[in-house]
Amino acid sequence: MVEVRLENVTHIYDKRVKAVDNLNIKFMDEKLTALLGPSGCGKTTTLRIIAGLIRPTKGRVFFDDKDVTDLPAEKRNLSMVFQFPVVYTTMKIYDNLAFPLRLKKLSKEEIEKKVKEIAEFLGLKQYLEIKPIGVPADLKQKVALGRALIKETGLLLLDEPLTNIDPKARIELREKILDVKRRLKQTIIYVTHDQAEALTLADFIGIMKDGKIIQLGTPEEIYERPSNTFVAWFVGNPGMNLLDADLVETAHGYFLDISGLRLPIPEDMGKFIRSRISETKLIFGIRPEHVNLYTKKVEGGIPGKCVTVEDMGALFIETVRVGEVELKVKTTEWIGEGQPIWIKFPSEKVRIFDKSGKLIYG
Ligand SMILES: Nc1ncnc2c1ncn2[C@@H]1O[C@H](COP(=O)(O)OP(=O)(O)OP(=O)(O)O)[C@@H](O)[C@H]1O
Ligand SMILES: [Mg+2]
Repeated sequence: MVEVRLENVTHIYDKRVKAVDNLNIKFMDEKLTALLGPSGCGKTTTLRIIAGLIRPTKGRVFFDDKDVTDLPAEKRNLSMVFQFPVVYTTMKIYDNLAFPLRLKKLSKEEIEKKVKEIAEFLGLKQYLEIKPIGVPADLKQKVALGRALIKETGLLLLDEPLTNIDPKARIELREKILDVKRRLKQTIIYVTHDQAEALTLADFIGIMKDGKIIQLGTPEEIYERPSNTFVAWFVGNPGMNLLDADLVETAHGYFLDISGLRLPIPEDMGKFIRSRISETKLIFGIRPEHVNLYTKKVEGGIPGKCVTVEDMGALFIETVRVGEVELKVKTTEWIGEGQPIWIKFPSEKVRIFDKSGKLIYG
């Protein structure tokens, strides 16, 4: 129910650690935006700035058209869930959930109704009468989430809420968060370093690195059209294959020279790349699942061999060597070490980046 906007926000800790570097980003109303990035890239700092727990060194924070930069946290009408669940161990779970409503001076009946609803939704009904001491982390986190939801604010901030939860309970809580997203018209900002969470939960993903937003887009855009090599490598498991290449123009058309491997490319693709860069050096990118892999010779297939194979359960990640080049390929078929293979790169899946790493084709 609120659009959050950061304008030129910078935060420097102790006059020397630049945690957030001139951020400009809009978190859309009623959408879940994930902030995804490696450890230390400034996700938590950004979230705490939005929450009003940190005043940015520079820049402004807006909720819709209202400048809230100087508004204290308690006046911002938002709720926040932290990585380490914050619960009151001296109170029963019922009272933990009722607490924000008592602060709002709701009647006893209203409080009871809302606590029951939230408890039902989060599967906490049978725990209402116990104190959250010595209980599993996922139960504590459900209580913390319940307390955040019961406030019915327009903005929900989640900082790695699943990171310290064991894998089985994590899946259940992830489903709950998806449910929250579907049912409530809240704006949700979800900080995580786990790409699987971001890709499954988010309407939009903001990729962060060194205090900056590198790309903001839908999960599909981020995955299919990473704006640069960092995003291409960071998102995906394993990330995109990125290989140094040279664009070569001959009388017979264009090809890419990838460490001696000659890969013919369509005329229009060659022309387009040429028009975008002044030099010939570039970076060739293809996702491991987009490489076509054959165990028999095929027309146009590049010969090579399998170097290693990693079993991922439902699929395999093959490291293959073609000429001087090694790359990762995802397959459903197990192909053993040393076996001959042939690969093809479907041209619609090829991404080309310039030497600085910026996407220029695909
Ligand atoms: N209170 C603080 N005082 C000084 N430096 C800090 C403080 N909090 C964070 N930093 C530094 O600011 C940078 C960004 O930290 P932040 O916690 O925002 O990153 P993050 O993306 O949330 O990382 P993580 O994934 O590890 O939680 C890091 O270099 C961190 O060491
Ligand atoms: Mg953090």
